[in-house]
Amino acid sequence: MSERQPGLEALLRQAPVVPVLVIDDVVDAVPLAKALVEGGLPVLEITLRTKAAPYCIRAIKAEVRGAIVGSGTVLDRHTLKLSEELGCAFAVSPGATPALIEAAQKTKTPLLPASRSPSEAMTLLEHGYGLQKFFPAEQSGGAAYLSALISPLPQVKFCPTGGITAENAPTYLKLANVITIGGSWMAPKALIANKDWAGIAKLATAAARLKG
Ligand code: 3PG
Repeated sequence: MSERQPGLEALLRQAPVVPVLVIDDVVDAVPLAKALVEGGLPVLEITLRTKAAPYCIRAIKAEVRGAIVGSGTVLDRHTLKLSEELGCAFAVSPGATPALIEAAQKTKTPLLPASRSPSEAMTLLEHGYGLQKFFPAEQSGGAAYLSALISPLPQVKFCPTGGITAENAPTYLKLANVITIGGSWMAPKALIANKDWAGIAKLATAAARLKG
């Protein structure tokens, strides 16, 4: 049941991994996104944690063919509205509050809110959110924890994010309740600082081939 998230599952299923990006300098946005998309990861989450983020979203949408751009770190109605104004394909939150859920009812951009317990997952389900981010994934019990939710909550599907790496990603991807995973390991700060786009494309290619 995901009546508040039309089209979101199909969008997120386009790749096994959604890069979660923190971009400080707008000049890095387009080459970084190109490296990820060319590596096979078209669905990108640009976190609204930096002053440059809105400019990065605009630039990537305008200049990177094939990129599907969503916003991240959407905490309230202001950041959700900004995501809609920027034309984001989706908006990701690290949690969910009554105010954010209420704002999402008036916003066209599909929201991916987060849960980290059965009660939180059930509350989101009551609001029509069958797709949820599981955050912070590793710190909250990891794939073993998520696996325990399959039987009681089969109608909830997750995008686990937080502490996931190329090494532990397959343990999540093999779960029946995981549609994709989020992570930053394919775009490390050091490689962005060195403008090592080839290095990032290589990590993206490996991530795009991950299977459960
Ligand atoms: C985040 O919000 O920063 C994401 O959860 C990414 O987490 P990671 O850096 O542990 O992959």
